[in-house]
Amino acid sequence: MEQIKELIARKIKLLLPNTDIDIASAIELPADSKLGDLAVPCFKFSKALRKAPPAIAAELKAGLETENFEFIDRIEAVGGYLNFFVRPDYFISILKLILDAGADFGKSNIGVNKVVVIDYSSPNIAKRFHIGHLGTTIIGNSLKKLHSFCGYKCIGINYLGDWGTQFGKVIAAYKLWSSEEKLAERGMDELVDLYVRFTKESEENEELHELAKNEFRKLEQYDEESTSLWKKFKAISLSEYEKTYKLLGIEFDSYNGESFYNDKMQTAIDELKVKNLLELDNGAYIVRLDEFKLPVVLILKSDGSTIYATRDIAAAIWRQNEYKFDKALYVTSAGQSLHFTQVFKVLELMGYEWAGRLVHVPYGTYSIGGEKIASRTGNVVLLDDLFKDAIEHAAAVIENKNPELENKAEVAEAVGVGAVVFNSLLNNRIKDVNFDWEEALSFEGNTGPYVQYTYARTASILRKNESEAEDTDSCDYTPNAEEIALIKCLSDFPNKVIQAINTYEPSVITRFALELCWAFNLFYHNNNILKSEIDCRQFRLQLAKAVNTTLGNTLNLIGLRETEVI
Ligand code: ARG
Repeated sequence: MEQIKELIARKIKLLLPNTDIDIASAIELPADSKLGDLAVPCFKFSKALRKAPPAIAAELKAGLETENFEFIDRIEAVGGYLNFFVRPDYFISILKLILDAGADFGKSNIGVNKVVVIDYSSPNIAKRFHIGHLGTTIIGNSLKKLHSFCGYKCIGINYLGDWGTQFGKVIAAYKLWSSEEKLAERGMDELVDLYVRFTKESEENEELHELAKNEFRKLEQYDEESTSLWKKFKAISLSEYEKTYKLLGIEFDSYNGESFYNDKMQTAIDELKVKNLLELDNGAYIVRLDEFKLPVVLILKSDGSTIYATRDIAAAIWRQNEYKFDKALYVTSAGQSLHFTQVFKVLELMGYEWAGRLVHVPYGTYSIGGEKIASRTGNVVLLDDLFKDAIEHAAAVIENKNPELENKAEVAEAVGVGAVVFNSLLNNRIKDVNFDWEEALSFEGNTGPYVQYTYARTASILRKNESEAEDTDSCDYTPNAEEIALIKCLSDFPNKVIQAINTYEPSVITRFALELCWAFNLFYHNNNILKSEIDCRQFRLQLAKAVNTTLGNTLNLIGLRETEVI
């Protein structure tokens, strides 16, 4: 469809030489095929041309009809719209293009020779991986896949929260109430309990604050005992997180967390001084952003310690030197928007032209069954538990649906995890997400299981007719309305990929997956693939093949597993 769109846009441009309207992007693909396969809303030109839309539509129709486009059946001017009806057999050639591209269909080269750094997941060590980090983990993963799909070199960074005063607390708590044995036995549970107890007790005990500060200072000075404890806490945390990453099929290219920048901050601070951006304020060093109506950024506290923003400034500079990125994305909850606005502004004031290529990608909050998730207090929903629950729920649904299935455990894992991921990526990322198990795991709704099940259905059709499905020769057949709708939907995939990248929205792909499944299932229910005549059967198998490949890519781009059987 893209080619037709461009051709029509070019021809219209010739008929409207004195406008600078972007015609190609004005062309619509009507959902109702009675309104044509492509439509030009002429009201978009009426201001520039000082004419009523119906008059423009009629003039364009007259001008274009002399063109005799081989793939256009007819053109209609209705109201202010100019509607183009494509010849049904043209869709066969679109399908052929899709099949010829195979697994590459949808890819583009917009990212060739470009580097994108994606900072995502980034949990805070010595704390459990909780639902607050689900969004960043799966949105980041999907953005990484989308960019790779379009040729970008991607660097996925897990910027572990492995530095900060909270480690002073954990070390102090460990020294007060724990031991090597307890830690070895209880691992992460011990660390979490220590932190919670310390936070609680320090509410009433001032001395504990001092103790924690002192411990953190020792850590900052590379005290041997503190460093070795900190390393141990980090290793315990990482091995916990790895389980979740494995479940989600996520791998990072770098685990350079906050601590990695300890020895890189001084240079950034010196640079801020030299560039006259730093101001002494009650013993602390700050950067003022009043001019930009932004709050002050604290760079160095009065006790000489650095903070989150200082590390992010140093990290951005290091990453640009190391990776020479074209774009750097930071995926975090919307709660950190101000932080990133400030950090990006400081880098801009430092004179870095690449500061304009730093992008914060925020997302909303999560709740389960309508209940907001509390954080900080230790009373949080852990990702481990969430996925365990999801897999159990999925196992029950599958047991019910297909008790004979061989690899039930594996499928339950793919479907359970997929249901959570799909549900989280279903709407625009800034919207809040709610999990309702019944809804998320239904095989009939707008869900991961529905998409995975449709994928498995296409896989099964192809398995049963392997040799015929491989045939990509054009066949002598005129597709019906459902088949045309399906091809149209497929042909929109490359656009959707670009749109998802441009808006940093995996939800464009989840919604595309649903549309493709609706179109396929409608076709599948109303048309018998195997009992049809040879040319028609061949065409339908080819169509199933194109859906299988595209849906497989779609699942992959949002981080769901491709399930051959369910
Ligand atoms: N560790 C932080 C948190 O859990 C997220 C880090 C985001 N990335 C960054 N470069 N600041 O809130």
